[in-house]
Amino acid sequence: MARTALLNVMTQAAIKAGRSLVRDFGEVENLQVSRKGPGDFVSAADRKAEEIVRAELTKARPTFGLVMEESGEVEGSDGQHRWHVDPLDGTTNFLHGIPIFATSIALERAGEIVAGVIYNPVMDELYTAERGRGAFLNDRRLRVAGRSDLHDMVFGTGLPFIGKGDHGRTLRELRYIMPEVAGIRRCGAAALDLAWTASGRLDGYWERSLNSWDIAAGILMVREAGGFVSDLQGKNKMLDNGDIVVGNEDAHKQLLRLLKQAEAPAQG
Ligand code: IPD
Ligand code: CA
Ligand code: CA
Ligand code: CA
Repeated sequence: MARTALLNVMTQAAIKAGRSLVRDFGEVENLQVSRKGPGDFVSAADRKAEEIVRAELTKARPTFGLVMEESGEVEGSDGQHRWHVDPLDGTTNFLHGIPIFATSIALERAGEIVAGVIYNPVMDELYTAERGRGAFLNDRRLRVAGRSDLHDMVFGTGLPFIGKGDHGRTLRELRYIMPEVAGIRRCGAAALDLAWTASGRLDGYWERSLNSWDIAAGILMVREAGGFVSDLQGKNKMLDNGDIVVGNEDAHKQLLRLLKQAEAPAQG
């Protein structure tokens, strides 16, 4: 299927940023790194990639606004469109030499996510989706996994950084989910957790306290691959509260049930 002009703009930005990331990944020990908080790193590679994406998107669509992880929000003049940009999702992996990271770009139009691109430059995997037009990995159409037995499923999740999130609750969730499933993975890049759910590698994924740049593209990817997406209450508020549960219909339903049980453990 021929890519639309909009997806061409987004893929070009993501691929250009990805090239810069791969160059920096090769010399990761020489990169300037600082901390936003304990265990929360940002490097020159994040900033460089963000600058590349910003320049590409602004050149192609000068009136659109931007929400970027490293440089914040820039209002657009058209009042309808906003990009959500995570230049390097998986900074901790990147800085530890673990080749699981991606650039994620989504376009919001009048409050709806209408297009998303997630690019893993090390694996040269380009995930694209447009509303109503399906999700693709390179040129292959994506479909979420078809498993229906919880015992066969592998789920992704994310664990909060030092000092962030409720670690007790995270442990409780793991304690409820681990004995029921074939496996749990903490891959370290939310955008890829979502892309991998869209492609059926993971049966589902859940995480809390994320930001729009982490999940906006991935939400569309999972939906366009036939998956279900909600927050932990089963509502469509993921972009407001940053909590997300995804999977095929069965995986999503079962995950929500287990997370609810972990939230309010049975007495006695
Ligand atoms: C992080 C990754 C990680 C998730 C964190 C995110 P960053 O994004 O997506 O998997 O658990 O909550 O902040 O900071 O590497 O772009
Ligand atoms: Ca970060
Ligand atoms: Ca991120
Ligand atoms: Ca990031």
